[in-house]
Amino acid sequence: MFQKLRPHLYELSARIASLRGSDRKFMNLGFEGATSVEVRPEDKKDSHHVKLYLKLLEEAPISEGMSVLEIGCGRGGGCYVLQKYFGIKNITAIDRSAANINLAKKLVPGVTFRKETAEKFQTTDLFDLVVNLESSHLYSSRAEFFKTVSAVLKPGGYFAFGDLVRKPVIEDVEKALKAAGFSILHGESLNTGVIHSIEKNSVIQYPTATNYPGLFPKKVHGFFVTIHSIAYQLLKSGDVQYRIYVLRKD
Ligand SMILES: C[S@@+](CC[C@H](N)C(=O)[O-])C[C@H]1O[C@@H](n2cnc3c(N)ncnc32)[C@H](O)[C@@H]1O
Repeated sequence: MFQKLRPHLYELSARIASLRGSDRKFMNLGFEGATSVEVRPEDKKDSHHVKLYLKLLEEAPISEGMSVLEIGCGRGGGCYVLQKYFGIKNITAIDRSAANINLAKKLVPGVTFRKETAEKFQTTDLFDLVVNLESSHLYSSRAEFFKTVSAVLKPGGYFAFGDLVRKPVIEDVEKALKAAGFSILHGESLNTGVIHSIEKNSVIQYPTATNYPGLFPKKVHGFFVTIHSIAYQLLKSGDVQYRIYVLRKD
């Protein structure tokens, strides 16, 4: 039931953000820890979110001339990182939420946006790199999604993929990636840095829910991922892993 409501919640929260004139660029859990690329002073407020993208892209052979597709772009924070930190000019981005895309268009002019569903996305364009962060757990099938990604990549193209994955499912996810034609170049769990990020930022981003947890149902804590959410507990116990991968299409 709540799972079915999630897309509507993303749409609703983006519409509210738009009405409030919110400048929130990112919707991921963030990462606290060292990254090989430094966060710029102007991004201090969003440094944990930027760092999660930097960590995802750290092992990817990324260069300015690449054509990049971001799937599940949210409010455009990932496109912002691709433009500002890696100098990428040719970016296409898709998301299922029209309200998120409207916010993203204002943040990162020059990006081609399309409202699309990740699992069914089709295009005649082929890309050098596909980026997908913290979105695939919301899809109807990760296996179908990986096939879609493979189909839109050039031969030898790269896929930077990161998300929350239940520990017993990791093997199946990696099998599905290989079945879709990918070689795993790098794989890592970021639990420590993501847990630190939730602990540090839950109270800053969601002060009322963090300080007065009883006012909100567990599902609300789950949607925003506060320190009172089940997702936070599962990351701490290790039952859920925050996995990142760099993959190459064979
Ligand atoms: C947690 S947010 C992450 C957004 C962004 N990657 C970031 O880190 O800020 C997940 C995003 O995935 C999008 N999404 C969920 N299901 C989708 C689907 N089936 N196809 C495309 N986008 C989807 C949501 O609308 C939302 O913008």
